[in-house]
Amino acid sequence: MAKVAIIYGMDENFSLSDYEALKKEIHFHNYRYHVLDDPVISDAEFDQMLLKLRAMESIHPEWITPDSPTQRSGAPAAERFEKVRHPAPILSLANAFSEDDIRAWYERIAKLDDRVCRASFVLEPKIDGLTVVLHYRNGIFVQGATRGDGEVGEDITANLRTIKAIPLKIPVEDTGVNVPPELVVRAEAFMMISDFEKLNQELAEKGEKVYQNPRNTAAGSLRQLDPGLVAQRPLTILTYAIVAHNPQKSQWETLMYLKRLGFPVSDLSKRCSGLEEMLACTYEWQAMRAQIPFEVDGVVIKLDDLGLADELGFVGKDPRGALALKFPAQEVTTILNDIGVNVGRTGVLTPYAILEPVEIGGVIVKQATLHNFDYIAEKDIRIGDRVMVKRAGDVIPYIIGPVVDVRKGSEWPYQPPETCPVCHQSVENFEGEVAWYCINSSCPAQIIRNIEHFVSRGAMDIVGMGIKIVEQLVEAGLVHDVADLYSLRKEDLLKLEGFADKKAENLLEAVAASKQQSLGRLITALGIHGIGEVAAEDLATRFDDLDDLSRADAEKIMEIQGFGPNMAEAIVDWFGIEKNREIVRKLKAAGVWPKRASNVSNLPQTLAGKKFVVTGTLTGFSREGIKDYISAHGGKVSDSVSAQTDYLVVGENPGSKLEKARELGVEILTEAQLKEITEKE
Ligand code: IVH
Repeated sequence: MAKVAIIYGMDENFSLSDYEALKKEIHFHNYRYHVLDDPVISDAEFDQMLLKLRAMESIHPEWITPDSPTQRSGAPAAERFEKVRHPAPILSLANAFSEDDIRAWYERIAKLDDRVCRASFVLEPKIDGLTVVLHYRNGIFVQGATRGDGEVGEDITANLRTIKAIPLKIPVEDTGVNVPPELVVRAEAFMMISDFEKLNQELAEKGEKVYQNPRNTAAGSLRQLDPGLVAQRPLTILTYAIVAHNPQKSQWETLMYLKRLGFPVSDLSKRCSGLEEMLACTYEWQAMRAQIPFEVDGVVIKLDDLGLADELGFVGKDPRGALALKFPAQEVTTILNDIGVNVGRTGVLTPYAILEPVEIGGVIVKQATLHNFDYIAEKDIRIGDRVMVKRAGDVIPYIIGPVVDVRKGSEWPYQPPETCPVCHQSVENFEGEVAWYCINSSCPAQIIRNIEHFVSRGAMDIVGMGIKIVEQLVEAGLVHDVADLYSLRKEDLLKLEGFADKKAENLLEAVAASKQQSLGRLITALGIHGIGEVAAEDLATRFDDLDDLSRADAEKIMEIQGFGPNMAEAIVDWFGIEKNREIVRKLKAAGVWPKRASNVSNLPQTLAGKKFVVTGTLTGFSREGIKDYISAHGGKVSDSVSAQTDYLVVGENPGSKLEKARELGVEILTEAQLKEITEKE
């Protein structure tokens, strides 16, 4: 036990208050990240804190309480969910579909109580998720339930604990806000569209079944009996009501109060002073619907005065004081003209629908994803079918299924290709996987995707090398693998369309500059299956260079925390392929050979302990480049300005960060001034 303590640099004689202080710090950073979306420390620092807390708890398991951040995951699977009676009915909402419906509702309630004519309204996004009811006792999250029939729901506490946006403890002493001993908060659990797409992409690549839409995925995840599985789903919440004993008198105050207590509240919500302003606002919302990063199926209109809303009572389960204006569905039907196939970086083939162009929510849609070949077979989607297409927010449009009733008989079933659509070599299917692969590692499609990944921002960050140029280079036969980028010559580039002297020189300079990238970035850039930026950085602190990593066996790699057999084997397999070994040899010969990253850079640590934020377009650095420069000199970079920020580095056309920095009195630096303070003796 004591050994654990030594590893994390702890004093073995730490006290309960040291433990409590660390717990509080972790809660704070969790809140910055998951509620405010504004972290002030790096993920790695956060992980270190959590490791330290776990180490403390392994020595003093008796200190662990349900609000410990370590208790978010790991609860054993349940056999079934217990029933929970809600402290007050969890009401529903009446629907409206037009301005006329809203006006009719307004007149109805104004007739019942003329205070409505002078009332304000609060507009909130109608989040297309799942209602959850969160119980706090003395500020600690003790129980979470589904809505059920509105009277009795199911106890899904262990699942909800895994959602990092849910505070396990309300930081009463810090907020200074009065928290009733029993607080019951209503929220919507859901998934961000981008997280949903990432999840589906990962599932499709692994050849697993994909989910239909973010709502079903969130609902299905929360009904899992194993909280360990729920923890892997990127769920989040937004809160919008206090179910019982609300200390606030208005809806707006309730939202502000929840926010002060550390709950996530949508910053889209708005207070409007009367009917006309409220109506105008609903049109604005419809127009911006596509920009909302989660699925919203309407806007909820609520009387701000909760006392008045209460007095108006309800009809069935719908309170009179609130109404849901439903947006028109973002689903249309169109004809599936054909099915195309993309080839990904790993050779996986993904089918997509080629549609008769159709407008959905103001956007012309010509293509939609079909996920994988099994999906087409499962839904019996045929070429020539009229299909239902859905587009929600920024989600890539997808096919829900065929409209079978209008089939004419001329539609024909789709046959997955037997050869790769790009290199025409035969495709393969691995046992137990749905996906089909092109296994020709010289397939131009794979080479293009690999290079695209290699040069990308999070990898070697070769500025100016976009997909178009990568395609040109591969198609002209100038580049066959990523290492060939380093043997490009100016005269080669000048032969390509659109290249003049300056452009060729700039590109070659950017390629040459990328030789200085760290070992972590180079490992990321190789695109080994399952090895993202975080894993690559870990590897870069444990292996001297690519040769050293290539000699490691799976067992050695699995000694690193967080590396399981799949990741270890993927690395060993990658280096086992002769073509990849050749790439490594070529990189070494070209001088692309970064060494092990030590935690402390050997540059003078002139920026040690200082926190930086960068804004605007820089002239001497790329965005990633300046971050590396600051961290190599001991500074820290975060994404947004806060009271903790020491310096804001400004480029051209700085955004709102500059104003915020001025407000907070944060020191402002130009690039030149940054260099000056960094490189001073
Ligand atoms: S208020 C009396 N506010 O919409 C309070 N509901 O059709 C009634 N929903 O079951 C609910 N976002 O799951 C409210 N900002 C929001 C909401 C919201 C989503 C859902 C909720 C409810 C359904 C009503």
